[in-house]
Amino acid sequence: MTFTKAQWPRKLRSAEWFGGTSRDHIYHRSWMKNQGLPADLFDGRPVIGICNTWSEMTPCNAHLRDLADRVRHGIFEAGGLPLEFPVFSPGESALRPTAMMFRNLCAMDVEEAIRGNPMDGVVLLAGCDKTTPALLMGAASVDLPAIVVSGGPMLNGMFRGERVGSGTHLWKFSEAVKAGEMSQADFLEAEASMSRSPGSCNTMGTASTMASMSEALGMALSGNAAIPAVDSRRRVMAHLTGRRIVDMVKDDLKPSDILTRSAFENAIRTNGAIGGSTNAVVHLLAIAGRVGIDLSLDDWDRCGQDIPTLVNLLPSGKYLMEEFFYAGGLPVVIRHLCEAGVMDREAMTVSGNSLWEEVKEVRNWNEDVILPVDKALTSQGGIAVLRGNLAPRGAVLKPSAATPELLVHRGRAVVFEDIDDYKRKIGDDDLDIDENCVMVLKNCGPKGYPGMAEVGNMGLPPKVLKKGITDMVRISDARMSGTAYGTVVLHTTPEAAAGGPLAVVRDGDIIELNVPERRLQLEITEAELAARLESWVPAVPVPASGYEHLFHTHVQGADTGADFDFLVGCRGSAVGKDSH
Ligand code: FES
Repeated sequence: MTFTKAQWPRKLRSAEWFGGTSRDHIYHRSWMKNQGLPADLFDGRPVIGICNTWSEMTPCNAHLRDLADRVRHGIFEAGGLPLEFPVFSPGESALRPTAMMFRNLCAMDVEEAIRGNPMDGVVLLAGCDKTTPALLMGAASVDLPAIVVSGGPMLNGMFRGERVGSGTHLWKFSEAVKAGEMSQADFLEAEASMSRSPGSCNTMGTASTMASMSEALGMALSGNAAIPAVDSRRRVMAHLTGRRIVDMVKDDLKPSDILTRSAFENAIRTNGAIGGSTNAVVHLLAIAGRVGIDLSLDDWDRCGQDIPTLVNLLPSGKYLMEEFFYAGGLPVVIRHLCEAGVMDREAMTVSGNSLWEEVKEVRNWNEDVILPVDKALTSQGGIAVLRGNLAPRGAVLKPSAATPELLVHRGRAVVFEDIDDYKRKIGDDDLDIDENCVMVLKNCGPKGYPGMAEVGNMGLPPKVLKKGITDMVRISDARMSGTAYGTVVLHTTPEAAAGGPLAVVRDGDIIELNVPERRLQLEITEAELAARLESWVPAVPVPASGYEHLFHTHVQGADTGADFDFLVGCRGSAVGKDSH
């Protein structure tokens, strides 16, 4: 519906800029009018920002200008004034040293852009991995009405009649080439078949996971996560989101009303059910920090335990996001979880309805893609949080992506001091390593890389691959792409570059991994560990200047979301005086 000014229940924030006859009001309106905006658009209607992470350097978000136009239609239709603005766009596939180093920069940009500009609510246009959490973090810290619309996944990749998943098959093909099972020419031919359309990765990687998290948290309209980027219904979703934000402003429905502890617990359970990315752990912890919810790694273990993985998608299963959409998408998963009694059905969503209201009538159109609870892919779909003298503040592992026989394992450590050391040694036939060893990679955490690179699923040594072995236990302070798989211990905290015990592991040490008992132990005495830590010398210098200096100095550990210490919390939408 369209609102007239008289129907607005309170003075809108944008009226401070546009709602008067002073010199400053005239100044603000006049400059806006250089875009050809008629005078009656400044009649007191809500101004809605469209926060856009469009960038041709972020190919997963390169279609977002089109979607922004659809959002714009919806906002106009509902009686709002849409104004689109760009923010820094961290693209996963190309940005160096790693997109994660810039998630907080993007979040800071989003927060300040929303607070400093004349808007009453905001639509968050995201797609690629880091853009979704960054926008949610920034918007949560301002706490004006906000709603996510995702760019949607790419169409299925196809290569010689076989489904090809973004990322997942890149790793698979790369290993196959190293093992001599695939030619380099075939690998090059497969390149074009992986990315057939605009959109984000088509597996249940981090982008699809975070789109699903937005929906499970209640921050996106129901059904948003899975619609392919090029499906006309993605445009409809954007249009409806534009309409809805105007109502949200009228109702003053803010992130703090939606992002409750219940919402985060629902999201954690949903992540287990979709076989979601381990990256969601870091991002949800960071978003929770912005709204003052004391979410911890223990909540991940507690809420995720015994959650069945229902979504049969790569990398844990076999299908891709296109099939997930055709099967009914995330609302079906949420309905199954609600019926299993593990969700808070009353959690509020951006629609103004409860989560249950949104999903109670959806149907599962393909039970091979979205499995019923009694036929789940695994009954332990959550993220396992490991502790021990090697990870005093925790480390994570995704059991559904691991080899079951390796979940309890003791092995001899083969240590790589950093990613360059790994690259130097891994192809060497003289490297003293076999499939029973534990590969240990240091200095790839938030401060170490910098930016906590997705290198935790380090490839196996070619001489092991050639034996037909496809998995080994790997431990690092890095992250892993949501499209990857393996028995991979990640996010080991404190990280090596901050002097965590990982820093003092040596070649030949014995490491015990026991996932059922949630243990990660370096088998040396307490006294030996203390002595090694005492003589530890930092291997990663503090960058002298620039953003890297800011990042290194202020980034927190993975166990609390790797946010900057000074960005945690909600600072509200109040802004200082006009400078004119
Ligand atoms: Fe952008 Fe995967 S690289 S979504």
